Amino acid sequence: MINIDGITKVYRMGATEVHALRGVDLKVDEGDFISIVGPSGSGKSTLMNIIGCLDTPTAGKYELDGTLVSSMRDDALAAIRNRKIGFVFQTFNLLPRQTAAENVGLPLLYAGIGRRERKKMSIEALERVELAGRANHRPTELSGGERQRVAIARALVNNPAIILADEPTGNLDQKVGKEITNIFERLNSEAGVTIVLVTHDPEVAKLARRQVHIIDGSIVSDQTS
Ligand SMILES: Nc1ncnc2c1ncn2[C@@H]1O[C@H](COP(=O)(O)OP(=O)(O)OP(=O)(O)O)[C@@H](O)[C@H]1O
Ligand SMILES: [Mg+2]
Repeated sequence: MINIDGITKVYRMGATEVHALRGVDLKVDEGDFISIVGPSGSGKSTLMNIIGCLDTPTAGKYELDGTLVSSMRDDALAAIRNRKIGFVFQTFNLLPRQTAAENVGLPLLYAGIGRRERKKMSIEALERVELAGRANHRPTELSGGERQRVAIARALVNNPAIILADEPTGNLDQKVGKEITNIFERLNSEAGVTIVLVTHDPEVAKLARRQVHIIDGSIVSDQTS
C-alpha cells in the first residue's frame, strides 16, 4: 500500500540546509499496524507528512496504492489525501466553536457531502469511538481523551484506508492514552485499517506489530514482533 523508496527531505533555510530525511525506504502492507519511534528532530513528523501527502520529498519515490504520488501537484495530492488518509495529531486540532459532530463532519464538508448525510455519518463515526453521547459538546466541554476520540472520529469519517497518528497520546495521561491506543488496535484488527503511529512512549510502540526506529533521518531498525 505504502511504497517509499530512497526518500530524502531537505529544508532550505536561507543559506543553511536541514537534512530531515536521508534516504528512507519503507514498505507498509494493507492492514499493517506500525509504530515509528526515534529522538526529537529525527524526522518522524517529516516522514508522516510525506506519507500523508501533506508534503513532497526532495528526492526519491513514493507510491501509494500503486500511484506515484511523490511528483504530484498540490491539488492532486489533496484529492488523494481526502479519499485515502485520516490524520490524528498530538494537539487534537479541533475547531473550538464547532460541536464534536460538526468537527467530525469537516472532511465530508470538504468532500461536498450535504448537511443531513454529514450529520448521520458524523454520529456513526462518533459511535465507533463510543462518544455519540457528546455529539453536541464543543471541545472546551470535553476531556482531553474525549477530544482525541473526536479527532479519531474525524479521521475515520471518510472510511480512509490509512490512519496516520503523530504522537496521539502525547498530551494524555497513561490511562487515557491506553484507551486511545485501544481504539487504534480495534480499528486495525476489526476494520483492517492500516495504522502508522508515531510515539515517544515505548509502551505505546510495543502495541504495534511492527516497530520502525528512525535516528537522524535514517531508519536504523525495522522489527516485526
Ligand atoms: N518546515 C520546516 N522547515 C525547516 N526545517 C524543518 C521543518 N520541519 C522540520 N524541520 C527540521 O527537520 C528535522 C526533523 O523534524 P521533524 O519534525 O520531522 O522531527 P520529529 O522526529 O517529528 O521530532 P519531534 O519528536 O520533536 O516531533 C528537525 O531538525 C527540524 O528542525
Ligand atoms: Mg514530530
